[in-house]
Amino acid sequence: MTNMLADELNNIRLSALPAIAVADAASLEELRVSLMGKTGSVTQLLKSLGNMEAEARKAAGAEINQLKAEITESLATRRAVLDAAALEARLAAERLDVTQPPRPEPAGAIHPLSRTMEEIAAIFSAMGFAIKDGPDIESDWHNFSALNIPGHHPARAMMDTFYLTGGEVLRTHTSPVQIRTLLNEQPPIRIIVPGRTFRSDHDATHSPMFHQCEGLVVGEGITLGHLKGCLTDFLSAYFDVPSLPVRLRSSYFPFTEPSMEVDIGWNKKTGEIGGGTDWLEIGGSGMVHPNVLANCGIDPRQYQGFAFGVGLERLTMLKHGIADLRLFYESDVRWLRHYGFSPLAPATLHEGF
Ligand code: PHE
Repeated sequence: MTNMLADELNNIRLSALPAIAVADAASLEELRVSLMGKTGSVTQLLKSLGNMEAEARKAAGAEINQLKAEITESLATRRAVLDAAALEARLAAERLDVTQPPRPEPAGAIHPLSRTMEEIAAIFSAMGFAIKDGPDIESDWHNFSALNIPGHHPARAMMDTFYLTGGEVLRTHTSPVQIRTLLNEQPPIRIIVPGRTFRSDHDATHSPMFHQCEGLVVGEGITLGHLKGCLTDFLSAYFDVPSLPVRLRSSYFPFTEPSMEVDIGWNKKTGEIGGGTDWLEIGGSGMVHPNVLANCGIDPRQYQGFAFGVGLERLTMLKHGIADLRLFYESDVRWLRHYGFSPLAPATLHEGF
């Protein structure tokens, strides 16, 4: 090996090894390229071996490869140190404290009206009722005529609604689902129908869109006693008042005979349900009119039935002390958060509402 080569190897060694030992990630890569890359200094020296005599090549080759091995090793050592430091830094920065309490997540809430529907569904399911729905847009026949409300009848004016150009209406009550069910099913029938209803009313206690729940029972030997017992059981369970006073007050609906308003006992001053001597109307009811059964092809001499319809906003406002109907539909998150229910605590009868 020539002195020249020996000097060169020494120069490389003396400048490269200390530089590698303190390099950061970027300069380490630069050093690797300048030493071992395609045109790197060590690579060049290895290439120069080709021009040497065999004897000289052997000695020079051993020395160059020795240097190459030293550099390769120190590059790897430095890289390992840098990688470990980088990992340490990341671990420190990304530390996760599993003992911290979770951040409060913005959980959704069940709207009080939906909750009322769930509670009513739970109560009537336990009594063997099926839950039905029907379209919001109804034919005049289903909403009025089949329910024994003929074209000229003043009850139509009591339920003024929105008429569509095709002659359909936005249903004024859930009673048309009585017709849809009676047309399609044979007694015994036991259904409830929670759903949206519409009338052209708008003030603090009336909204053009509101909700009702219909009930219909048809079978042999059904009496007014069944109606009162069913409503009493339902209302006491819903308000969680075991001996809730329920009063049926004579009234008129074209589709029931006899017809009765449904009142519950309460204290008007305190709002206490079941206490006091005041009465509050929460819906209509009656024995299904024979004409309604006949309109649907059911023989009224063989089958009798009762029906009722209650206002869901009214039931919800009474139970939760909500004063203004309009807030139900304003989607104010503060109101929803206050009156809403946890989606993780569904309405089930056995735990009570
Ligand atoms: N459909 C009636 C209303 O909306 C309520 C009702 C239902 C009355 C069923 C009797 C029987 O006013």
